[in-house]
Amino acid sequence: MAGEYRTAITTEGTLERRVQDRVSVLALQVEEEIDRVIDQACQSAAMRDAARYAALNGGKRLRPALTLLCAKACGGTEADALPAAAAVELVHAFSLVHDDLPCMDDDDLRRGRPTLHVHAGEATALLAGDAMLNAAYWALATRVPDATIASNQIRELAGACARMIDGQALDTLGGFDKVLSTDEARLRRIHQWKTGALLSAACRMGAISARASDTHLAAISDYALSLGLMFQVVDDLIDVEQPTEQAGKRTGKDADAGKLTFPGVLGVEASRAEVGRLLDKSLCSLEPLEQSGGDLADLARVLASRTR
Ligand code: IPE
Ligand code: IPE
Ligand code: MG
Ligand code: MG
Ligand code: MG
Repeated sequence: MAGEYRTAITTEGTLERRVQDRVSVLALQVEEEIDRVIDQACQSAAMRDAARYAALNGGKRLRPALTLLCAKACGGTEADALPAAAAVELVHAFSLVHDDLPCMDDDDLRRGRPTLHVHAGEATALLAGDAMLNAAYWALATRVPDATIASNQIRELAGACARMIDGQALDTLGGFDKVLSTDEARLRRIHQWKTGALLSAACRMGAISARASDTHLAAISDYALSLGLMFQVVDDLIDVEQPTEQAGKRTGKDADAGKLTFPGVLGVEASRAEVGRLLDKSLCSLEPLEQSGGDLADLARVLASRTR
């Protein structure tokens, strides 16, 4: 029994290391592309410096990794998916800068460093968020050679941004649709919108860059739907279970801020069970991709047990 347990740990450790190594290699390409995009889309030194501070230092680069891996899984290339990967990560970085502002979650630590508004002031943070959002669309409009693919990716990203903003509004201001009468229904709506939508766009934009078949695009969409919700349930668990030093952001804050979270509404055990259910669902969705979905399956497994 003890032997089996040790094997499980070792296998898990190996998988995590393998996935981390793969994501690190992809991240290098994405960071170079983001750097080029910021350079071209932002002309003032203040915006360049602030966008680089927020978009290029630290961060797991999960969303752009998903874009590139989904492109590969659908028979495309990393190079063709690179502008979309950079665009998604720029939108993500923008969303974090605004999420951390005093009028939102009022956080002073992100990726182990002072948040942008603490580092450079609120006006800079507000404007740099705007600049990164703009730079994302600029990347798609100018760096994707095929006009149809660019326009489909722009539509995908715009739809996801709209949902993300709606999700952040519900999370911050409330104002729920009457049919969402339970906390759990409201919570699922918030998480699917504020986090799931952009993760879905990250995956689908990769598939679009590869001119994926309808079957493959549907498989990627189903995978991303479960993964996106799972990602935010794990984020909620990190807030209650991990120390700030591990997470690189202040933890233990959600309950005090009155946020609807999975551990708050369902409890920690049921939230863990939900993570397991969503992981299984995301893995099943990959079946039409056969062996090509292997990297995406491994990434989902690692994300289910992440602690930062
Ligand atoms: C944090 O996202 C915000 C959420 C949507 C939960 P990540 O956990 O991907 O943050 P970084 O990019 O690695 O810092
Ligand atoms: C952030 O959710 C979601 C977006 C930025 C869209 P959280 O507020 O839970 O993210 P963290 O915990 O600050 O990273
Ligand atoms: Mg928030
Ligand atoms: Mg926050
Ligand atoms: Mg959180």
